Amino acid sequence: MTNRKTALVTGASDGIGAEFSDILAGLDYNVILVARREDKLNELSDKLNNLYDVDCTVIPADLSEPQAAQKLFDLTQDKNLEVDLLINNAGLLHNGYFTDLDLAEQERMIAVNVLALTSITHLFANIMATRGKGCILNISSLAAWMAIPNQNVYAASKAYVLSFTQALADEMLANSSGVSVTALCPGYTATKMMDNPAQGAKLRIPPTMMMSAREVAEAGIKGCLSGKSIVVPGVANKITAAVVRLFSKRLLTKLVGSFYRSKMQ
Ligand SMILES: NC(=O)c1ccc[n+]([C@@H]2O[C@H](COP(=O)([O-])OP(=O)(O)OC[C@H]3O[C@@H](n4cnc5c(N)ncnc54)[C@H](OP(=O)(O)O)[C@@H]3O)[C@@H](O)[C@H]2O)c1
Repeated sequence: MTNRKTALVTGASDGIGAEFSDILAGLDYNVILVARREDKLNELSDKLNNLYDVDCTVIPADLSEPQAAQKLFDLTQDKNLEVDLLINNAGLLHNGYFTDLDLAEQERMIAVNVLALTSITHLFANIMATRGKGCILNISSLAAWMAIPNQNVYAASKAYVLSFTQALADEMLANSSGVSVTALCPGYTATKMMDNPAQGAKLRIPPTMMMSAREVAEAGIKGCLSGKSIVVPGVANKITAAVVRLFSKRLLTKLVGSFYRSKMQ
Protein backbone atom coordinates (compact mmCIF):
# COMPACT_ATOMS: atom_id res chain seq x y z
CA MET A 1 0.00 0.00 0.00
CA THR A 2 1.51 3.41 -0.97
CA ASN A 3 0.37 6.97 -0.27
CA ARG A 4 0.87 7.95 -3.88
CA LYS A 5 -1.61 10.28 -5.47
CA THR A 6 -3.39 9.29 -8.68
CA ALA A 7 -3.86 11.35 -11.83
CA LEU A 8 -6.23 10.60 -14.70
CA VAL A 9 -5.20 11.96 -18.11
CA THR A 10 -7.49 11.82 -21.14
CA GLY A 11 -5.82 11.90 -24.53
CA ALA A 12 -2.75 10.34 -22.93
CA SER A 13 -1.69 8.37 -26.02
CA ASP A 14 0.02 11.28 -27.74
CA GLY A 15 1.21 14.88 -27.72
CA ILE A 16 0.61 17.04 -24.67
CA GLY A 17 -1.32 14.27 -22.87
CA ALA A 18 1.62 11.83 -23.08
CA GLU A 19 3.85 14.58 -21.63
CA PHE A 20 1.39 15.29 -18.79
CA SER A 21 1.47 11.58 -17.95
CA ASP A 22 5.29 11.41 -18.02
CA ILE A 23 5.68 14.53 -15.84
CA LEU A 24 3.14 13.30 -13.29
CA ALA A 25 4.72 9.84 -13.09
CA GLY A 26 8.03 11.65 -12.51
CA LEU A 27 6.32 13.49 -9.63
CA ASP A 28 5.40 10.06 -8.18
CA TYR A 29 1.74 10.00 -9.23
CA ASN A 30 0.11 6.76 -10.31
CA VAL A 31 -1.51 7.46 -13.66
CA ILE A 32 -4.70 6.39 -15.38
CA LEU A 33 -4.17 6.67 -19.13
CA VAL A 34 -7.23 7.20 -21.32
CA ALA A 35 -7.53 7.42 -25.13
CA ARG A 36 -8.71 5.28 -28.05
CA ARG A 37 -5.39 3.69 -29.11
CA GLU A 38 -4.78 0.94 -26.57
CA ASP A 39 -1.41 -0.06 -28.09
CA LYS A 40 -0.02 3.46 -27.60
CA LEU A 41 -1.36 3.57 -24.03
CA ASN A 42 0.21 0.19 -23.22
CA GLU A 43 3.53 1.38 -24.65
CA LEU A 44 3.41 4.52 -22.47
CA SER A 45 2.31 2.52 -19.44
CA ASP A 46 5.34 0.17 -19.79
CA LYS A 47 7.67 3.14 -20.24
CA LEU A 48 6.37 5.00 -17.16
CA ASN A 49 6.33 1.88 -15.06
CA ASN A 50 9.97 1.11 -15.97
CA LEU A 51 11.20 4.69 -15.58
CA TYR A 52 9.38 5.73 -12.41
CA ASP A 53 8.05 2.51 -10.89
CA VAL A 54 4.50 3.93 -10.61
CA ASP A 55 1.23 2.08 -11.23
CA CYS A 56 -0.35 2.80 -14.60
CA THR A 57 -3.89 1.82 -15.50
CA VAL A 58 -4.82 1.80 -19.17
CA ILE A 59 -8.44 2.56 -20.03
CA PRO A 60 -9.16 2.51 -23.76
CA ALA A 61 -12.17 4.74 -24.47
CA ASP A 62 -13.69 6.69 -27.32
CA LEU A 63 -14.89 9.84 -25.58
CA SER A 64 -17.10 10.80 -28.51
CA GLU A 65 -19.44 7.92 -27.73
CA PRO A 66 -22.67 8.43 -25.74
CA GLN A 67 -22.22 7.78 -22.01
CA ALA A 68 -18.41 7.61 -22.43
CA ALA A 69 -17.83 9.83 -19.38
CA GLN A 70 -20.11 7.79 -17.12
CA LYS A 71 -18.51 4.53 -18.30
CA LEU A 72 -15.03 5.92 -17.62
CA PHE A 73 -16.06 7.12 -14.17
CA ASP A 74 -17.73 3.78 -13.34
CA LEU A 75 -14.60 1.88 -14.40
CA THR A 76 -12.43 3.95 -12.04
CA GLN A 77 -14.91 3.27 -9.22
CA ASP A 78 -14.98 -0.48 -10.00
CA LYS A 79 -11.18 -0.52 -9.82
CA ASN A 80 -11.20 1.52 -6.55
CA LEU A 81 -9.10 4.22 -8.18
CA GLU A 82 -9.31 7.52 -6.28
CA VAL A 83 -8.47 10.37 -8.66
CA ASP A 84 -6.62 13.30 -7.04
CA LEU A 85 -5.78 15.12 -10.27
CA LEU A 86 -7.93 15.02 -13.39
CA ILE A 87 -6.63 16.31 -16.73
CA ASN A 88 -9.24 16.72 -19.46
CA ASN A 89 -6.81 16.90 -22.35
CA ALA A 90 -8.37 14.78 -25.14
CA GLY A 91 -9.36 17.00 -28.03
CA LEU A 92 -9.54 17.21 -31.78
CA LEU A 93 -9.48 19.87 -34.42
CA HIS A 94 -10.93 20.34 -37.90
CA ASN A 95 -9.73 23.07 -40.25
CA GLY A 96 -11.58 24.25 -43.33
CA TYR A 97 -14.81 25.82 -44.47
CA PHE A 98 -17.60 24.90 -42.05
CA THR A 99 -20.02 23.99 -44.85
CA ASP A 100 -17.46 21.71 -46.55
CA LEU A 101 -16.40 19.83 -43.43
CA ASP A 102 -18.17 16.59 -42.60
CA LEU A 103 -21.00 17.20 -40.12
CA ALA A 104 -20.44 13.93 -38.24
CA GLU A 105 -16.79 14.93 -37.68
CA GLN A 106 -17.83 18.31 -36.31
CA GLU A 107 -20.34 16.62 -34.00
CA ARG A 108 -17.61 14.24 -32.79
CA MET A 109 -15.37 17.23 -32.08
CA ILE A 110 -18.09 18.84 -29.94
CA ALA A 111 -18.75 15.50 -28.21
CA VAL A 112 -15.08 15.15 -27.16
CA ASN A 113 -13.99 18.79 -26.69
CA VAL A 114 -17.16 19.96 -24.92
CA LEU A 115 -19.56 17.23 -23.84
CA ALA A 116 -17.15 14.58 -22.54
CA LEU A 117 -15.03 17.24 -20.81
CA THR A 118 -18.09 18.67 -19.06
CA SER A 119 -19.45 15.28 -17.97
CA ILE A 120 -16.10 13.95 -16.77
CA THR A 121 -15.55 17.17 -14.81
CA HIS A 122 -19.01 16.89 -13.22
CA LEU A 123 -18.52 13.28 -12.11
CA PHE A 124 -15.02 13.75 -10.68
CA ALA A 125 -15.60 17.26 -9.23
CA ASN A 126 -18.45 15.85 -7.16
CA ILE A 127 -16.46 13.03 -5.68
CA MET A 128 -13.44 15.32 -5.11
CA ALA A 129 -15.66 17.83 -3.30
CA THR A 130 -16.99 15.03 -1.09
CA ARG A 131 -13.39 14.25 -0.14
CA GLY A 132 -12.63 18.00 0.24
CA LYS A 133 -9.64 17.95 -2.12
CA GLY A 134 -8.61 17.57 -5.74
CA CYS A 135 -7.34 19.36 -8.84
CA ILE A 136 -8.86 19.57 -12.29
CA LEU A 137 -6.98 20.83 -15.34
CA ASN A 138 -9.03 21.45 -18.49
CA ILE A 139 -7.20 22.03 -21.77
CA SER A 140 -8.55 25.02 -23.62
CA SER A 141 -6.46 26.96 -26.17
CA LEU A 142 -5.34 30.42 -27.17
CA ALA A 143 -8.07 29.89 -29.80
CA ALA A 144 -10.57 30.43 -26.96
CA TRP A 145 -9.73 34.13 -26.91
CA MET A 146 -10.98 34.79 -30.45
CA ALA A 147 -13.47 33.69 -33.10
CA ILE A 148 -11.48 31.79 -35.75
CA PRO A 149 -12.94 31.53 -39.25
CA ASN A 150 -12.13 28.17 -40.91
CA GLN A 151 -11.57 26.67 -37.47
CA ASN A 152 -14.80 27.99 -36.06
CA VAL A 153 -16.27 24.99 -34.21
CA TYR A 154 -12.87 24.18 -32.68
CA ALA A 155 -12.33 27.77 -31.46
CA ALA A 156 -15.90 27.91 -30.10
CA SER A 157 -15.39 24.58 -28.30
CA LYS A 158 -12.25 25.95 -26.65
CA ALA A 159 -14.02 29.22 -25.72
CA TYR A 160 -16.60 27.02 -23.97
CA VAL A 161 -13.84 25.19 -22.07
CA LEU A 162 -12.26 28.46 -20.93
CA SER A 163 -15.55 30.06 -19.85
CA PHE A 164 -16.84 26.88 -18.16
CA THR A 165 -13.56 26.30 -16.32
CA GLN A 166 -13.11 29.88 -15.15
CA ALA A 167 -16.66 29.95 -13.76
CA LEU A 168 -16.33 26.53 -12.14
CA ALA A 169 -13.02 27.53 -10.53
CA ASP A 170 -14.83 30.41 -8.86
CA GLU A 171 -17.77 28.22 -7.75
CA MET A 172 -15.53 25.56 -6.24
CA LEU A 173 -13.56 28.21 -4.37
CA ALA A 174 -16.71 30.03 -3.18
CA ASN A 175 -18.17 26.88 -1.63
CA SER A 176 -14.83 25.94 -0.01
CA SER A 177 -14.86 22.60 -1.83
CA GLY A 178 -11.09 22.17 -1.60
CA VAL A 179 -11.07 21.49 -5.36
CA SER A 180 -9.02 23.74 -7.65
CA VAL A 181 -9.94 24.06 -11.31
CA THR A 182 -7.57 25.39 -13.99
CA ALA A 183 -7.83 26.15 -17.71
CA LEU A 184 -4.65 25.75 -19.76
CA CYS A 185 -4.59 27.83 -22.97
CA PRO A 186 -1.69 26.71 -25.19
CA GLY A 187 -0.89 28.40 -28.48
CA TYR A 188 0.58 26.41 -31.38
CA THR A 189 2.24 23.32 -29.95
CA ALA A 190 4.34 20.82 -31.89
CA THR A 191 2.11 17.71 -31.80
CA LYS A 192 0.35 15.62 -34.41
CA MET A 193 -2.59 18.04 -34.10
CA MET A 194 -0.48 20.45 -36.17
CA ASP A 195 0.06 17.83 -38.86
CA ASN A 196 -2.91 15.47 -39.00
CA PRO A 197 -4.43 14.65 -42.41
CA ALA A 198 -7.60 13.43 -40.63
CA GLN A 199 -8.51 16.93 -39.51
CA GLY A 200 -9.35 18.74 -42.75
CA ALA A 201 -6.98 21.31 -44.23
CA LYS A 202 -3.38 21.31 -43.04
CA LEU A 203 -2.05 24.52 -41.47
CA ARG A 204 1.45 25.66 -42.45
CA ILE A 205 2.57 27.10 -39.11
CA PRO A 206 6.33 27.85 -38.89
CA PRO A 207 8.04 25.70 -36.22
CA THR A 208 9.40 28.92 -34.64
CA MET A 209 5.80 29.79 -33.68
CA MET A 210 5.35 26.53 -31.75
CA MET A 211 6.14 25.48 -28.19
CA SER A 212 7.07 21.89 -27.41
CA ALA A 213 4.45 19.62 -25.87
CA ARG A 214 6.74 19.17 -22.86
CA GLU A 215 6.98 22.93 -22.15
CA VAL A 216 3.20 23.28 -22.42
CA ALA A 217 2.53 20.31 -20.15
CA GLU A 218 5.03 21.56 -17.56
CA ALA A 219 3.38 25.00 -17.46
CA GLY A 220 -0.06 23.36 -17.11
CA ILE A 221 0.93 21.14 -14.21
CA LYS A 222 2.78 23.94 -12.43
CA GLY A 223 -0.23 26.29 -12.76
CA CYS A 224 -2.70 23.60 -11.76
CA LEU A 225 -0.76 22.51 -8.68
CA SER A 226 -0.43 26.13 -7.59
CA GLY A 227 -4.20 26.66 -7.94
CA LYS A 228 -4.24 29.18 -10.83
CA SER A 229 -7.55 29.44 -12.67
CA ILE A 230 -6.04 30.27 -16.08
CA VAL A 231 -2.59 29.41 -17.45
CA VAL A 232 -1.30 30.75 -20.77
CA PRO A 233 2.07 29.05 -21.38
CA GLY A 234 4.98 30.96 -22.98
CA VAL A 235 5.75 34.65 -23.35
CA ALA A 236 4.59 34.94 -26.97
CA ASN A 237 1.23 33.34 -26.11
CA LYS A 238 0.80 35.63 -23.09
CA ILE A 239 1.45 38.66 -25.33
CA THR A 240 -1.02 37.36 -27.94
CA ALA A 241 -3.70 36.81 -25.28
CA ALA A 242 -3.21 40.40 -24.08
CA VAL A 243 -3.01 42.01 -27.54
CA VAL A 244 -6.14 40.35 -28.98
CA ARG A 245 -8.19 42.06 -26.28
CA LEU A 246 -7.20 45.47 -27.73
CA PHE A 247 -8.97 44.80 -31.06
CA SER A 248 -12.69 44.99 -31.76
CA LYS A 249 -14.11 41.45 -32.17
CA ARG A 250 -15.16 42.28 -35.74
CA LEU A 251 -11.69 43.43 -36.83
CA LEU A 252 -9.94 40.61 -34.98
CA THR A 253 -12.17 38.01 -36.69
CA LYS A 254 -11.31 39.48 -40.10
CA LEU A 255 -7.56 39.49 -39.34
CA VAL A 256 -7.55 35.99 -37.91
CA GLY A 257 -9.66 34.69 -40.82
CA SER A 258 -7.23 35.97 -43.43
CA PHE A 259 -4.26 34.60 -41.44
CA TYR A 260 -5.82 31.12 -41.26
CA ARG A 261 -6.82 31.08 -44.92
CA SER A 262 -3.25 32.05 -45.86
CA LYS A 263 -1.94 29.10 -43.82
CA MET A 264 -4.43 26.46 -45.04
CA GLN A 265 -3.27 23.90 -47.64
N1 LIG B 1 -1.29 21.24 -30.58
C1 LIG B 1 -1.73 22.47 -30.43
O1 LIG B 1 -1.27 23.41 -31.12
C2 LIG B 1 -2.75 22.81 -29.38
C3 LIG B 1 -2.98 24.16 -29.08
C4 LIG B 1 -3.93 24.49 -28.12
C5 LIG B 1 -4.64 23.50 -27.48
N2 LIG B 1 -4.41 22.19 -27.79
C6 LIG B 1 -5.22 21.19 -27.09
O2 LIG B 1 -4.37 20.29 -26.40
C7 LIG B 1 -5.03 19.03 -26.24
C8 LIG B 1 -4.08 17.92 -26.68
O3 LIG B 1 -3.81 18.08 -28.06
P1 LIG B 1 -2.44 17.63 -28.75
O4 LIG B 1 -1.90 18.81 -29.46
O5 LIG B 1 -1.60 16.89 -27.80
O6 LIG B 1 -3.07 16.68 -29.88
P2 LIG B 1 -2.76 15.21 -30.32
O7 LIG B 1 -1.29 14.93 -30.32
O8 LIG B 1 -3.53 15.05 -31.59
O9 LIG B 1 -3.43 14.33 -29.16
C9 LIG B 1 -4.82 14.30 -28.99
C10 LIG B 1 -5.14 13.24 -27.96
O10 LIG B 1 -6.57 13.17 -27.83
C11 LIG B 1 -6.97 11.82 -27.96
N3 LIG B 1 -8.31 11.72 -28.55
C12 LIG B 1 -8.73 12.26 -29.71
N4 LIG B 1 -10.00 11.89 -29.96
C13 LIG B 1 -10.37 11.10 -28.92
C14 LIG B 1 -11.56 10.38 -28.60
N5 LIG B 1 -12.62 10.38 -29.43
N6 LIG B 1 -11.61 9.68 -27.45
C15 LIG B 1 -10.55 9.63 -26.63
N7 LIG B 1 -9.38 10.29 -26.88
C16 LIG B 1 -9.31 10.99 -28.01
C17 LIG B 1 -5.91 11.18 -28.87
O11 LIG B 1 -5.80 9.79 -28.63
P3 LIG B 1 -6.36 8.60 -29.55
O12 LIG B 1 -6.21 9.03 -30.98
O13 LIG B 1 -5.52 7.42 -29.16
O14 LIG B 1 -7.79 8.45 -29.12
C18 LIG B 1 -4.65 11.87 -28.37
O15 LIG B 1 -4.11 11.20 -27.27
C19 LIG B 1 -6.30 19.11 -27.09
O16 LIG B 1 -7.41 19.37 -26.26
C20 LIG B 1 -6.04 20.30 -28.00
O17 LIG B 1 -7.22 20.91 -28.44
C21 LIG B 1 -3.48 21.82 -28.71
